[in-house]
Amino acid sequence: MTALQRRLDVAIPLAQEAGRRALAMQPPPGAPEATLKGTQDWLTAADGATEKFLAESLAAAFPEDGFMGEETGSGREGGLRWIVDPIDGTSNFARGSRRWCVSVGLLDGRQSVAGVIHAPALGDTFAARQGNGATLNTAPMRAATTTDLARGQVECGWSHRRPNAGYYRMVQAIMERGAMLRAGGSGALGLADVAAGRIDGYAELHINLWDVAAALCILTESGARVSDFTAGDGMLEGNHILAAAPGIAEALSEAAGLGFSG
Ligand code: IPD
Ligand code: CA
Repeated sequence: MTALQRRLDVAIPLAQEAGRRALAMQPPPGAPEATLKGTQDWLTAADGATEKFLAESLAAAFPEDGFMGEETGSGREGGLRWIVDPIDGTSNFARGSRRWCVSVGLLDGRQSVAGVIHAPALGDTFAARQGNGATLNTAPMRAATTTDLARGQVECGWSHRRPNAGYYRMVQAIMERGAMLRAGGSGALGLADVAAGRIDGYAELHINLWDVAAALCILTESGARVSDFTAGDGMLEGNHILAAAPGIAEALSEAAGLGFSG
């Protein structure tokens, strides 16, 4: 068995266990039970606890690998490195909504070579390893075969990290092409949905490495087109992300004003 397959075999049940633990800590529906790190940027007790569980478990299984999590900052670059978002979709998690996930990506240098995105409340586990295809709940999955943006569905992610004016422009141009718009509050799950063919595209003006580390491999392995997140300072500073079903990729890129090469 390859080193990557061994790691994926460990990462899948670990992400599922982390999801079970986080789910047990989730607040009930109602007003958000969380602290604000910035505008609509939430932090719950479960974020720290879940990241600690994953950091310790991965270090025990693969002591030679690096680790970086959203809450505990960056580790060294190079070699095999786990990149974890303990809870993506924290704004949903904090108010009892089901649309959130645990994201565990594995980088080899700057390349995403394996990934698991587990959404416990939805019962979905997306996974992939480089060269081996992508799966949803162990069944092979592919990006959609849509060829007309006007028949498509696109998610546009939003955060406070870029001025709203750019978001309005992007959304307007995509809607004018006739696509149906969605915003689900979890970048990792939006990207995973592109890989599963549940939507046709995902676009966001700025997103961080931990949000996309697992999704990048999952998207590539599903046959979706995905932008070069690592271009420029992407690894350290974040970058835009564009993921699309191949048949509408160019049309979406033009409408969103975002390229695939970075
Ligand atoms: C955020 C979510 C959101 C995306 C933001 C992310 P968080 O992560 O993925 O959908 O638009 O860019 O920061 O705060 O839920 O972990
Ligand atoms: Ca996140």
